[in-house]
Amino acid sequence: MKKMLPKALLLTSLVLGMSVSAFAADDKKKAPEVMSGASAKMLADTCTGCHGFDGNSKGPATPSIAGFSAEYLTEVMKAYKSGDASSTIMGRIMKGYSDEELAQVAEVYAKKKPVSAPGQKFDEALVKKGKKLHDKYCEKCHAEGGTSAEDDSGLLAGQWTPYLQATMADFAAGTREMPKKMKKKVKKLTKKEGADGMTALFSYYASQK
Ligand code: HEC
Ligand code: HEC
Repeated sequence: MKKMLPKALLLTSLVLGMSVSAFAADDKKKAPEVMSGASAKMLADTCTGCHGFDGNSKGPATPSIAGFSAEYLTEVMKAYKSGDASSTIMGRIMKGYSDEELAQVAEVYAKKKPVSAPGQKFDEALVKKGKKLHDKYCEKCHAEGGTSAEDDSGLLAGQWTPYLQATMADFAAGTREMPKKMKKKVKKLTKKEGADGMTALFSYYASQK
């Protein structure tokens, strides 16, 4: 069973790779970097069924991954693989990849352009408050309103709200480890604003185009 998983993934990536290349003409020019028989692009094509052709998912429980820093993507995928971060599906998928392959796939998605999740509903009245709270509690690490790909902390702006909600719940439950300093800020925010604080933040992130 252990040996079958990578093979199955390789097959999927081959099938997807063929269908995707028809759409992604600009990717064809570059010679693929060959790595253990599969190019970085082929490995990355395995993800498109869930994360979208350019890493911008159709959601809502599957996060968009385009434009995140390669460091962040690599770390989070390794955490799924080891079980340090809980997941519904990613843990199983990541077991089929070596750490080197994960780093390669991360490079592919780091170069894609992030697009905000389309058509999300949010509370307009809470957006302003959400921005204020973001600046006070989150901006230090999730810079430029949560849009900065320079950060190794993940993009928040335009991400699917259900994914953000589930992730904050995982952090709170300890099934994904929250960075210590972030924990402090979230604690402060919750103490001052209650659950409404997080709702305002989610509204702000969903409002960003
Ligand atoms: C079957 C659907 C599916 C496939 C295929 C898939 N993913 Fe995921 N991915 C998810 C879901 C769902 C999550 C949310 C965590 C979970 O519940 O597993 C996720 C989470 C992630 C995250 C975390 C994003 C964040 O904001 O922290 C990254 C990074 C990621 N996937 C990368 C990949 C890459 C790279 C591939 C291809 C090698 C891939 N995924 C293949 C469904 C998928
Ligand atoms: C001291 C720095 C710091 C602060 C302040 C901070 N974060 Fe984070 N945040 C991080 C880091 C680092 C990660 C990546 C953690 C990991 O690798 O699992 C992260 C990850 C996240 C994620 C998961 C992203 C994803 O794509 O899965 C969410 C959601 C998040 N933070 C929300 C917030 C919110 C909301 C605030 C403000 C209340 C905040 N953070 C404040 C450093 C910070």
